[in-house]
Amino acid sequence: MVDDVAALVAGLGVAPVRLGLILGSGLGGLADAVRGQSFDYGDLPGFPAVGVSGHGGRLVIGELDGVRVAVLNGRAHYYESGRADVMRRPLELLAGLGAETLIVTNAAGSLRSDCGPGSVMMIADHLGLLGRNPLIAEPSEDRFVPMTAAYDAGLRAGLRRSAEAEGVDLPEGVYAWVSGPSFETPAEIRALRALGADAVGMSTVPEVILARFLGLRVAALSVITNMGAGMSDEAISHAHTKAMAPQGAAILGRVLRRFLRDLA
Ligand code: HPA
Repeated sequence: MVDDVAALVAGLGVAPVRLGLILGSGLGGLADAVRGQSFDYGDLPGFPAVGVSGHGGRLVIGELDGVRVAVLNGRAHYYESGRADVMRRPLELLAGLGAETLIVTNAAGSLRSDCGPGSVMMIADHLGLLGRNPLIAEPSEDRFVPMTAAYDAGLRAGLRRSAEAEGVDLPEGVYAWVSGPSFETPAEIRALRALGADAVGMSTVPEVILARFLGLRVAALSVITNMGAGMSDEAISHAHTKAMAPQGAAILGRVLRRFLRDLA
């Protein structure tokens, strides 16, 4: 497995990167701003097929705001295959390319009335209580990954500073992972709120577990596309998620690019 990744890294023939970025539903615009090379997931052994409309399925490696980055534009979700480790190879590749930091983005429903559609929430912690874990069947002792400080305090402080400099409100909250692909019932949303969740979505948690396993420092940002089921009169659908993503994506893009400029 590890040897395959080394071969894949060597085959790409690119210079090392500092930072990896996963772009979720409708958030792919940032990838276009990267000056560098682009690779189809389909041409990268071990990469998942990315089937949901609105997801790109391209790895872009190059420079963004003065920082060498590798961008995973598009992700595979647990609900597509029933495999929680479906993003393992892409994350191994980021680590193999030298990334020490991973920033994960996603679209999510909000469980907090003070954080509505179009806003961005930074993930401070997560609930991943599905009984699925991407490290099941991983043989090494490293599988016992501590998740106490999974969302890096230093990165979060940096992102808060970037948001402030951009005049953007960046609340922090707990993200709850649901399998999807169906959305939640109002009763499930009430239960998740009672458990302490502030946002809900179908990705990110297994990726963060894998990234911590691989030794990456992690931060994650959710673009809020809707209120949780039963919390507002708006209908919840995948089309609505995609339609609502651009507003929050623009804010997220400003915060991230300021963060990169400060890192450069
Ligand atoms: N639930 C789960 N995933 C989501 C939602 C939601 O309300 N909105 C965007 N992704």
